[in-house]
Amino acid sequence: MGSDMKNLSMNGDAVALRERAEHILRKRKQQDPATPNTDADLRKQLHELQINQIELEMQNSALTELHEARMETELALKRYADLYDLAPIGYFTLDRAGLICEANLTAAALLRVERRKLPGQDFNAYISLDLQSDFKAFLVRVFAHKIRASCELVLSNFRHQPIFVHMDAVPDESGQTCRAIVENITLRKLAEKSLFNVHDQLERSVHERTAELTDINEALRVEVAERKRTEAALLESRAALRRLGAYQERIKEDERKRIAREIHDELGSLLTGIRANACVALGNAERGDRPLEQLADIAKLADLAIDTVRKVITELRPSVLDQLGVWAALEWYAGQVERRTGLACECVLDPHAVDTELDPERSTALFRIVQEALTNAARHAMASRVTISVTREANQIKVEVQDDGKGISDERRFSSDSWGIAGMYERALHFDGEFRICSTLGRGTLVFFRFPLEKSHAP
Ligand SMILES: Nc1ncnc2c1ncn2[C@@H]1O[C@H](COP(=O)(O)OP(=O)(O)OP(=O)(O)O)[C@@H](O)[C@H]1O
Ligand SMILES: [Mg+2]
Repeated sequence: MGSDMKNLSMNGDAVALRERAEHILRKRKQQDPATPNTDADLRKQLHELQINQIELEMQNSALTELHEARMETELALKRYADLYDLAPIGYFTLDRAGLICEANLTAAALLRVERRKLPGQDFNAYISLDLQSDFKAFLVRVFAHKIRASCELVLSNFRHQPIFVHMDAVPDESGQTCRAIVENITLRKLAEKSLFNVHDQLERSVHERTAELTDINEALRVEVAERKRTEAALLESRAALRRLGAYQERIKEDERKRIAREIHDELGSLLTGIRANACVALGNAERGDRPLEQLADIAKLADLAIDTVRKVITELRPSVLDQLGVWAALEWYAGQVERRTGLACECVLDPHAVDTELDPERSTALFRIVQEALTNAARHAMASRVTISVTREANQIKVEVQDDGKGISDERRFSSDSWGIAGMYERALHFDGEFRICSTLGRGTLVFFRFPLEKSHAP
Protein backbone atom coordinates (compact mmCIF):
# COMPACT_ATOMS: atom_id res chain seq x y z
CA MET A 1 0.00 0.00 0.00
CA GLY A 2 2.91 2.32 0.84
CA SER A 3 4.24 2.33 -2.73
CA ASP A 4 0.72 2.85 -4.13
CA MET A 5 0.22 5.76 -1.79
CA LYS A 6 3.49 7.19 -2.93
CA ASN A 7 2.17 7.20 -6.46
CA LEU A 8 -0.68 9.46 -5.48
CA SER A 9 -0.46 12.73 -7.20
CA MET A 10 -0.91 15.72 -5.05
CA ASN A 11 -2.51 17.41 -7.97
CA GLY A 12 -5.34 14.86 -8.54
CA ASP A 13 -8.73 15.95 -7.43
CA ALA A 14 -10.79 14.15 -4.73
CA VAL A 15 -12.94 12.16 -7.21
CA ALA A 16 -10.04 10.84 -9.12
CA LEU A 17 -8.36 9.96 -5.87
CA ARG A 18 -11.41 8.06 -4.70
CA GLU A 19 -11.73 6.18 -7.96
CA ARG A 20 -8.14 5.24 -7.77
CA ALA A 21 -8.46 4.09 -4.16
CA GLU A 22 -11.52 1.95 -5.00
CA HIS A 23 -9.62 0.39 -7.88
CA ILE A 24 -6.76 -0.48 -5.59
CA LEU A 25 -9.19 -1.95 -3.05
CA ARG A 26 -10.79 -4.10 -5.71
CA LYS A 27 -7.44 -5.39 -6.80
CA ARG A 28 -6.48 -6.23 -3.26
CA LYS A 29 -9.74 -8.10 -2.69
CA GLN A 30 -9.01 -10.18 -5.74
CA GLN A 31 -5.53 -10.94 -4.45
CA ASP A 32 -6.80 -11.65 -0.89
CA PRO A 33 -10.41 -13.08 -1.20
CA ALA A 34 -10.75 -13.85 2.60
CA THR A 35 -13.20 -11.21 3.74
CA PRO A 36 -13.91 -10.71 7.44
CA ASN A 37 -17.37 -11.74 8.43
CA THR A 38 -17.61 -11.20 12.14
CA ASP A 39 -18.55 -7.88 13.80
CA ALA A 40 -15.34 -7.97 15.68
CA ASP A 41 -13.43 -8.34 12.44
CA LEU A 42 -15.45 -5.58 10.88
CA ARG A 43 -14.92 -3.28 13.87
CA LYS A 44 -11.24 -4.08 13.82
CA GLN A 45 -11.06 -3.36 10.14
CA LEU A 46 -13.07 -0.16 10.60
CA HIS A 47 -10.71 0.88 13.33
CA GLU A 48 -7.77 0.16 11.07
CA LEU A 49 -9.37 2.09 8.30
CA GLN A 50 -10.01 5.08 10.54
CA ILE A 51 -6.40 4.99 11.73
CA ASN A 52 -5.27 4.77 8.12
CA GLN A 53 -7.54 7.63 7.21
CA ILE A 54 -6.10 9.82 10.00
CA GLU A 55 -2.62 8.82 8.96
CA LEU A 56 -3.47 9.70 5.40
CA GLU A 57 -4.88 13.07 6.44
CA MET A 58 -1.76 13.81 8.44
CA GLN A 59 0.44 12.75 5.53
CA ASN A 60 -1.68 14.81 3.21
CA SER A 61 -1.30 17.89 5.38
CA ALA A 62 2.48 17.27 5.62
CA LEU A 63 2.60 16.90 1.86
CA THR A 64 0.67 20.13 1.44
CA GLU A 65 3.19 21.93 3.70
CA LEU A 66 5.99 20.33 1.78
CA HIS A 67 4.44 21.44 -1.47
CA GLU A 68 4.07 24.97 -0.19
CA ALA A 69 7.65 24.99 1.03
CA ARG A 70 8.79 23.74 -2.34
CA MET A 71 6.77 26.41 -4.11
CA GLU A 72 8.34 29.03 -1.89
CA THR A 73 11.81 27.61 -2.52
CA GLU A 74 11.19 27.61 -6.27
CA LEU A 75 9.99 31.19 -6.06
CA ALA A 76 13.04 32.21 -4.07
CA LEU A 77 15.24 30.34 -6.53
CA LYS A 78 13.62 32.15 -9.42
CA ARG A 79 14.01 35.46 -7.61
CA TYR A 80 17.65 34.63 -6.94
CA ALA A 81 18.14 33.53 -10.57
CA ASP A 82 16.62 36.84 -11.75
CA LEU A 83 18.80 38.77 -9.37
CA TYR A 84 21.83 36.75 -10.47
CA ASP A 85 21.08 37.12 -14.15
CA LEU A 86 20.08 40.75 -14.17
CA ALA A 87 22.57 42.03 -11.59
CA PRO A 88 24.50 45.08 -12.95
CA ILE A 89 27.71 43.36 -11.87
CA GLY A 90 29.23 40.34 -13.59
CA TYR A 91 29.19 37.04 -11.70
CA PHE A 92 31.40 34.16 -12.78
CA THR A 93 31.97 30.73 -11.36
CA LEU A 94 35.46 29.62 -12.35
CA ASP A 95 37.25 26.36 -11.72
CA ARG A 96 40.86 26.00 -10.62
CA ALA A 97 42.08 26.15 -14.24
CA GLY A 98 40.11 29.34 -14.84
CA LEU A 99 37.46 27.68 -17.00
CA ILE A 100 34.06 29.35 -16.83
CA CYS A 101 31.43 27.18 -15.15
CA GLU A 102 28.72 29.79 -14.87
CA ALA A 103 28.20 33.42 -15.73
CA ASN A 104 25.37 35.92 -15.49
CA LEU A 105 24.17 38.19 -18.30
CA THR A 106 26.32 41.14 -17.27
CA ALA A 107 29.33 38.85 -17.16
CA ALA A 108 28.58 37.69 -20.71
CA ALA A 109 28.17 41.30 -21.81
CA LEU A 110 31.56 42.14 -20.31
CA LEU A 111 33.16 39.38 -22.39
CA ARG A 112 30.97 40.33 -25.38
CA VAL A 113 29.98 36.70 -25.86
CA GLU A 114 26.57 35.04 -25.81
CA ARG A 115 25.99 33.65 -22.35
CA ARG A 116 25.15 30.14 -23.50
CA LYS A 117 28.55 29.85 -25.21
CA LEU A 118 30.48 30.71 -22.07
CA PRO A 119 30.52 27.51 -19.95
CA GLY A 120 33.74 25.64 -20.55
CA GLN A 121 35.60 28.62 -21.99
CA ASP A 122 38.92 29.80 -20.56
CA PHE A 123 38.45 33.14 -18.78
CA ASN A 124 42.14 33.90 -19.34
CA ALA A 125 41.56 34.05 -23.09
CA TYR A 126 39.55 37.25 -22.58
CA ILE A 127 42.28 38.97 -20.62
CA SER A 128 44.87 41.18 -22.32
CA LEU A 129 48.06 39.22 -23.01
CA ASP A 130 50.30 41.11 -20.62
CA LEU A 131 48.03 40.33 -17.65
CA GLN A 132 47.31 36.65 -18.31
CA SER A 133 50.15 35.25 -16.20
CA ASP A 134 49.21 37.65 -13.38
CA PHE A 135 45.66 36.35 -13.46
CA LYS A 136 46.81 32.72 -13.30
CA ALA A 137 48.91 33.54 -10.26
CA PHE A 138 45.89 35.31 -8.75
CA LEU A 139 43.70 32.21 -9.12
CA VAL A 140 46.40 30.02 -7.60
CA ARG A 141 46.51 32.37 -4.61
CA VAL A 142 42.73 32.35 -4.18
CA PHE A 143 42.52 28.54 -4.17
CA ALA A 144 45.71 27.96 -2.19
CA HIS A 145 44.92 30.32 0.66
CA LYS A 146 41.13 29.92 0.50
CA ILE A 147 40.81 33.65 0.86
CA ARG A 148 38.86 36.39 -0.75
CA ALA A 149 41.23 38.35 -3.01
CA SER A 150 40.88 41.06 -5.60
CA CYS A 151 42.69 42.22 -8.69
CA GLU A 152 42.31 44.58 -11.63
CA LEU A 153 42.25 43.23 -15.16
CA VAL A 154 41.83 44.44 -18.72
CA LEU A 155 39.38 42.47 -20.84
CA SER A 156 40.48 42.77 -24.40
CA ASN A 157 38.73 41.98 -27.59
CA PHE A 158 40.44 43.03 -30.79
CA ARG A 159 37.18 44.35 -32.26
CA HIS A 160 36.36 46.57 -29.32
CA GLN A 161 37.85 48.98 -26.88
CA PRO A 162 39.44 47.26 -23.86
CA ILE A 163 37.35 47.07 -20.69
CA PHE A 164 38.96 47.66 -17.29
CA VAL A 165 37.49 45.47 -14.54
CA HIS A 166 37.89 44.92 -10.85
CA MET A 167 37.53 41.28 -9.74
CA ASP A 168 36.75 39.96 -6.25
CA ALA A 169 37.09 36.16 -6.03
CA VAL A 170 36.43 33.74 -3.20
CA PRO A 171 36.60 29.91 -3.33
CA ASP A 172 33.28 28.19 -2.68
CA GLU A 173 32.56 25.36 -0.23
CA SER A 174 33.69 22.63 -2.66
CA GLY A 175 37.13 24.21 -2.92
CA GLN A 176 37.12 23.32 -6.64
CA THR A 177 35.46 26.45 -7.98
CA CYS A 178 35.41 30.04 -6.98
CA ARG A 179 32.82 32.78 -7.28
CA ALA A 180 34.10 35.92 -8.90
CA ILE A 181 32.38 39.31 -8.88
CA VAL A 182 33.55 41.47 -11.78
CA GLU A 183 32.85 45.20 -11.92
CA ASN A 184 33.37 47.39 -15.00
CA ILE A 185 35.66 50.21 -13.89
CA THR A 186 36.48 51.55 -17.39
CA LEU A 187 34.85 54.94 -16.80
CA ARG A 188 36.66 55.32 -13.51
CA LYS A 189 39.94 54.33 -15.14
CA LEU A 190 39.42 56.77 -18.02
CA ALA A 191 38.53 59.50 -15.53
CA GLU A 192 41.64 58.61 -13.53
CA LYS A 193 43.71 58.68 -16.70
CA SER A 194 42.40 62.06 -17.82
CA LEU A 195 42.85 63.32 -14.26
CA PHE A 196 46.38 62.00 -14.37
CA ASN A 197 46.94 63.73 -17.74
CA VAL A 198 45.56 67.00 -16.39
CA HIS A 199 47.69 66.59 -13.29
CA ASP A 200 50.70 65.74 -15.43
CA GLN A 201 50.05 68.74 -17.68
CA LEU A 202 49.65 70.90 -14.60
CA GLU A 203 52.87 69.56 -13.14
CA ARG A 204 54.68 70.28 -16.39
CA SER A 205 53.22 73.79 -16.56
CA VAL A 206 54.20 74.39 -12.95
CA HIS A 207 57.65 72.98 -13.68
CA GLU A 208 58.07 75.16 -16.80
CA ARG A 209 56.77 78.23 -15.02
CA THR A 210 59.05 77.53 -12.06
CA ALA A 211 62.01 77.14 -14.43
CA GLU A 212 61.03 80.42 -16.16
CA LEU A 213 60.71 82.17 -12.84
CA THR A 214 64.03 80.72 -11.71
CA ASP A 215 65.66 82.03 -14.91
CA ILE A 216 64.02 85.42 -14.50
CA ASN A 217 65.07 85.44 -10.88
CA GLU A 218 68.60 84.51 -11.79
CA ALA A 219 68.68 87.17 -14.54
CA LEU A 220 67.34 89.72 -12.05
CA ARG A 221 69.90 88.64 -9.49
CA VAL A 222 72.68 89.04 -12.06
CA GLU A 223 71.23 92.39 -13.14
CA VAL A 224 70.95 93.61 -9.55
CA ALA A 225 74.52 92.47 -8.86
CA GLU A 226 75.65 94.14 -12.10
CA ARG A 227 73.83 97.34 -11.15
CA LYS A 228 75.36 97.29 -7.71
CA ARG A 229 78.78 96.83 -9.28
CA THR A 230 78.07 99.65 -11.76
CA GLU A 231 76.82 101.89 -8.96
CA ALA A 232 79.89 101.12 -6.88
CA ALA A 233 82.12 101.75 -9.91
CA LEU A 234 80.24 104.99 -10.58
CA LEU A 235 80.66 106.11 -6.98
CA GLU A 236 84.33 105.17 -7.08
CA SER A 237 84.75 106.93 -10.42
CA ARG A 238 83.05 110.07 -9.04
CA ALA A 239 85.26 109.95 -5.99
CA ALA A 240 88.29 109.48 -8.24
CA LEU A 241 87.18 112.44 -10.36
CA ARG A 242 86.82 114.54 -7.23
CA ARG A 243 90.26 113.48 -6.10
CA LEU A 244 91.60 114.17 -9.62
CA GLY A 245 90.00 117.63 -9.60
CA ALA A 246 91.53 118.40 -6.22
CA TYR A 247 94.88 117.05 -7.44
CA GLN A 248 94.73 119.25 -10.55
CA GLU A 249 93.98 122.26 -8.36
CA ARG A 250 96.97 121.35 -6.22
CA ILE A 251 99.17 120.96 -9.31
CA LYS A 252 98.02 124.33 -10.62
CA GLU A 253 98.79 125.88 -7.24
CA ASP A 254 102.23 124.18 -7.14
CA GLU A 255 102.84 125.29 -10.71
CA ARG A 256 101.91 128.89 -9.82
CA LYS A 257 104.25 128.74 -6.83
CA ARG A 258 107.05 127.33 -8.98
CA ILE A 259 106.54 130.01 -11.66
CA ALA A 260 106.35 132.68 -8.95
CA ARG A 261 109.54 131.28 -7.44
CA GLU A 262 111.31 131.18 -10.78
CA ILE A 263 110.15 134.72 -11.65
CA HIS A 264 111.13 135.87 -8.19
CA ASP A 265 114.40 134.01 -7.86
CA GLU A 266 115.68 134.08 -11.42
CA LEU A 267 113.86 136.83 -13.29
CA GLY A 268 113.67 139.03 -10.16
CA SER A 269 117.41 138.80 -9.45
CA LEU A 270 118.21 139.34 -13.16
CA LEU A 271 115.98 142.45 -13.30
CA THR A 272 117.50 143.66 -10.00
CA GLY A 273 120.94 143.19 -11.56
CA ILE A 274 119.84 145.05 -14.73
CA ARG A 275 118.41 147.85 -12.56
CA ALA A 276 121.63 148.07 -10.48
CA ASN A 277 123.77 148.15 -13.64
CA ALA A 278 121.46 150.75 -15.20
CA CYS A 279 121.78 152.98 -12.06
CA VAL A 280 125.58 152.70 -12.13
CA ALA A 281 125.57 153.44 -15.89
CA LEU A 282 123.37 156.52 -15.29
CA GLY A 283 125.75 157.77 -12.56
CA ASN A 284 128.72 157.24 -14.87
CA ALA A 285 126.95 159.03 -17.70
CA GLU A 286 126.11 162.01 -15.45
CA ARG A 287 129.73 162.23 -14.48
CA GLY A 288 130.67 162.16 -18.19
CA ASP A 289 132.07 158.60 -18.03
CA ARG A 290 131.05 156.15 -20.73
CA PRO A 291 128.96 153.34 -19.10
CA LEU A 292 130.12 150.67 -21.52
CA GLU A 293 130.88 147.99 -18.97
CA GLN A 294 127.47 148.33 -17.25
CA LEU A 295 125.68 148.34 -20.60
CA ALA A 296 127.46 145.09 -21.54
CA ASP A 297 126.38 143.57 -18.19
CA ILE A 298 122.82 144.82 -18.74
CA ALA A 299 122.77 143.14 -22.19
CA LYS A 300 124.05 139.84 -20.68
CA LEU A 301 121.52 139.98 -17.85
CA ALA A 302 118.72 140.79 -20.32
CA ASP A 303 119.72 137.71 -22.41
CA LEU A 304 119.56 135.53 -19.30
CA ALA A 305 116.15 137.05 -18.43
CA ILE A 306 114.88 136.26 -21.93
CA ASP A 307 116.12 132.64 -21.59
CA THR A 308 114.39 132.35 -18.23
CA VAL A 309 111.14 133.69 -19.64
CA ARG A 310 111.37 131.25 -22.56
CA LYS A 311 112.04 128.34 -20.17
CA VAL A 312 109.07 129.23 -18.02
CA ILE A 313 106.82 129.58 -21.07
CA THR A 314 108.08 126.32 -22.56
CA GLU A 315 107.42 124.46 -19.34
CA LEU A 316 103.93 125.93 -19.24
CA ARG A 317 103.20 124.84 -22.79
CA PRO A 318 105.84 123.90 -25.34
CA SER A 319 105.61 126.47 -28.07
CA VAL A 320 106.68 123.84 -30.57
CA LEU A 321 103.25 122.25 -30.06
CA ASP A 322 101.55 125.33 -31.48
CA GLN A 323 104.24 126.23 -33.98
CA LEU A 324 105.18 122.88 -35.54
CA GLY A 325 102.29 120.66 -34.52
CA VAL A 326 101.98 117.65 -32.24
CA TRP A 327 104.22 115.23 -34.20
CA ALA A 328 107.22 117.54 -34.16
CA ALA A 329 106.47 118.37 -30.52
CA LEU A 330 106.64 114.64 -29.68
CA GLU A 331 110.06 114.30 -31.33
CA TRP A 332 111.27 117.46 -29.61
CA TYR A 333 110.05 116.27 -26.20
CA ALA A 334 111.59 112.80 -26.69
CA GLY A 335 114.91 114.55 -27.42
CA GLN A 336 114.52 116.69 -24.29
CA VAL A 337 113.90 113.61 -22.09
CA GLU A 338 116.84 111.80 -23.63
CA ARG A 339 119.11 114.78 -23.03
CA ARG A 340 117.87 115.37 -19.51
CA THR A 341 117.72 111.74 -18.27
CA GLY A 342 119.95 109.69 -20.52
CA LEU A 343 117.01 107.37 -21.36
CA ALA A 344 117.18 106.46 -25.07
CA CYS A 345 113.92 107.71 -26.63
CA GLU A 346 112.92 106.69 -30.13
CA CYS A 347 109.96 108.11 -32.04
CA VAL A 348 108.44 105.90 -34.75
CA LEU A 349 105.80 107.93 -36.54
CA ASP A 350 103.72 106.32 -39.25
CA PRO A 351 103.75 108.69 -42.30
CA HIS A 352 100.03 108.22 -42.67
CA ALA A 353 99.63 109.44 -39.06
CA VAL A 354 102.02 112.35 -39.56
CA ASP A 355 99.87 113.52 -42.49
CA THR A 356 96.96 113.88 -40.10
CA GLU A 357 96.47 117.35 -38.74
CA LEU A 358 95.05 117.03 -35.25
CA ASP A 359 92.84 119.70 -33.73
CA PRO A 360 94.38 121.63 -30.79
CA GLU A 361 92.40 119.73 -28.13
CA ARG A 362 93.44 116.31 -29.37
CA SER A 363 97.00 117.50 -29.97
CA THR A 364 97.32 118.69 -26.37
CA ALA A 365 95.75 115.51 -24.98
CA LEU A 366 98.01 113.26 -27.06
CA PHE A 367 101.10 115.26 -26.13
CA ARG A 368 100.26 115.27 -22.41
CA ILE A 369 99.62 111.53 -22.33
CA VAL A 370 102.95 110.76 -24.03
CA GLN A 371 104.63 113.30 -21.75
CA GLU A 372 103.29 111.53 -18.63
CA ALA A 373 104.20 108.06 -20.04
CA LEU A 374 107.77 109.24 -20.72
CA THR A 375 107.98 110.92 -17.31
CA ASN A 376 106.87 107.66 -15.67
CA ALA A 377 109.33 105.61 -17.73
CA ALA A 378 112.12 107.98 -16.69
CA ARG A 379 111.01 108.20 -13.03
CA HIS A 380 109.90 104.67 -12.19
CA ALA A 381 110.85 102.12 -14.84
CA MET A 382 114.64 102.07 -14.49
CA ALA A 383 114.48 101.53 -18.25
CA SER A 384 117.28 102.01 -20.74
CA ARG A 385 115.12 102.52 -23.80
CA VAL A 386 111.65 103.71 -24.62
CA THR A 387 109.89 103.70 -28.00
CA ILE A 388 106.97 105.92 -28.96
CA SER A 389 105.02 104.56 -31.95
CA VAL A 390 102.16 106.39 -33.61
CA THR A 391 99.96 104.80 -36.27
CA ARG A 392 96.74 105.68 -37.92
CA GLU A 393 94.05 103.13 -38.72
CA ALA A 394 90.98 104.35 -40.55
CA ASN A 395 89.54 107.05 -38.33
CA GLN A 396 91.69 106.21 -35.31
CA ILE A 397 95.02 107.45 -34.02
CA LYS A 398 96.89 104.80 -32.02
CA VAL A 399 99.86 105.50 -29.77
CA GLU A 400 102.12 103.05 -27.93
CA VAL A 401 104.84 103.95 -25.46
CA GLN A 402 106.90 100.87 -24.70
CA ASP A 403 109.77 100.81 -22.21
CA ASP A 404 112.14 97.99 -21.27
CA GLY A 405 112.06 98.69 -17.56
CA LYS A 406 111.00 96.75 -14.47
CA GLY A 407 107.24 96.78 -15.13
CA ILE A 408 104.39 97.91 -12.85
CA SER A 409 102.80 95.91 -10.09
CA ASP A 410 98.97 96.03 -9.96
CA GLU A 411 99.23 97.46 -6.49
CA ARG A 412 101.15 100.49 -7.78
CA ARG A 413 99.14 100.82 -10.98
CA PHE A 414 95.88 101.33 -9.07
CA SER A 415 97.44 103.29 -6.24
CA SER A 416 95.06 105.99 -5.04
CA ASP A 417 97.82 108.52 -4.29
CA SER A 418 99.07 108.59 -7.90
CA TRP A 419 97.35 110.59 -10.58
CA GLY A 420 99.45 110.30 -13.70
CA ILE A 421 97.82 107.08 -14.97
CA ALA A 422 94.33 108.28 -13.97
CA GLY A 423 94.93 111.53 -15.87
CA MET A 424 96.06 109.66 -19.01
CA TYR A 425 92.98 107.45 -18.80
CA GLU A 426 90.61 110.40 -18.40
CA ARG A 427 92.18 112.30 -21.29
CA ALA A 428 91.81 109.31 -23.65
CA LEU A 429 88.21 108.67 -22.56
CA HIS A 430 87.31 112.32 -23.01
CA PHE A 431 87.60 111.71 -26.78
CA ASP A 432 85.67 108.42 -26.65
CA GLY A 433 88.97 106.60 -26.89
CA GLU A 434 90.53 103.63 -25.16
CA PHE A 435 93.43 103.48 -22.73
CA ARG A 436 95.35 100.39 -21.53
CA ILE A 437 98.52 99.64 -19.66
CA CYS A 438 100.05 96.20 -20.22
CA SER A 439 102.91 95.30 -17.98
CA THR A 440 104.70 92.19 -16.76
CA LEU A 441 107.05 92.58 -13.85
CA GLY A 442 110.64 92.61 -15.12
CA ARG A 443 109.57 92.84 -18.75
CA GLY A 444 108.77 96.48 -19.32
CA THR A 445 105.57 98.46 -19.66
CA LEU A 446 103.38 99.28 -22.62
CA VAL A 447 101.11 102.31 -22.46
CA PHE A 448 98.55 102.06 -25.24
CA PHE A 449 95.83 104.49 -26.18
CA ARG A 450 93.76 105.37 -29.19
CA PHE A 451 91.03 107.80 -29.96
CA PRO A 452 88.86 108.57 -32.93
CA LEU A 453 89.63 111.58 -35.07
CA GLU A 454 87.19 114.37 -35.72
CA LYS A 455 84.64 113.51 -38.38
CA SER A 456 86.30 115.94 -40.81
CA HIS A 457 89.44 113.74 -40.70
CA ALA A 458 87.63 110.60 -41.66
CA PRO A 459 88.80 109.31 -45.05
N1 LIG B 1 106.67 102.82 -16.93
C1 LIG B 1 106.59 102.45 -15.63
N2 LIG B 1 107.44 101.49 -15.15
C2 LIG B 1 107.38 101.08 -13.86
N3 LIG B 1 106.49 101.57 -12.95
C3 LIG B 1 105.62 102.52 -13.37
C4 LIG B 1 105.62 103.01 -14.72
N4 LIG B 1 104.63 103.92 -14.83
C5 LIG B 1 104.04 104.01 -13.62
N5 LIG B 1 104.62 103.16 -12.74
C6 LIG B 1 104.21 102.91 -11.33
O1 LIG B 1 102.84 103.24 -11.24
C7 LIG B 1 102.66 104.22 -10.22
C8 LIG B 1 101.55 105.13 -10.65
O2 LIG B 1 101.96 105.98 -11.69
P1 LIG B 1 101.32 107.40 -11.82
O3 LIG B 1 101.85 108.05 -13.02
O4 LIG B 1 99.85 107.27 -11.74
O5 LIG B 1 101.75 108.14 -10.50
P2 LIG B 1 103.17 108.71 -10.10
O6 LIG B 1 104.05 108.79 -11.31
O7 LIG B 1 103.68 107.93 -8.98
O8 LIG B 1 102.77 110.14 -9.60
P3 LIG B 1 102.20 111.34 -10.45
O9 LIG B 1 100.83 111.51 -9.92
O10 LIG B 1 103.09 112.49 -10.22
O11 LIG B 1 102.20 110.90 -11.87
C9 LIG B 1 103.98 104.84 -10.08
O12 LIG B 1 104.15 105.34 -8.77
C10 LIG B 1 104.94 103.72 -10.34
O13 LIG B 1 105.16 102.93 -9.19
MG1 LIG C 1 103.40 109.72 -13.09
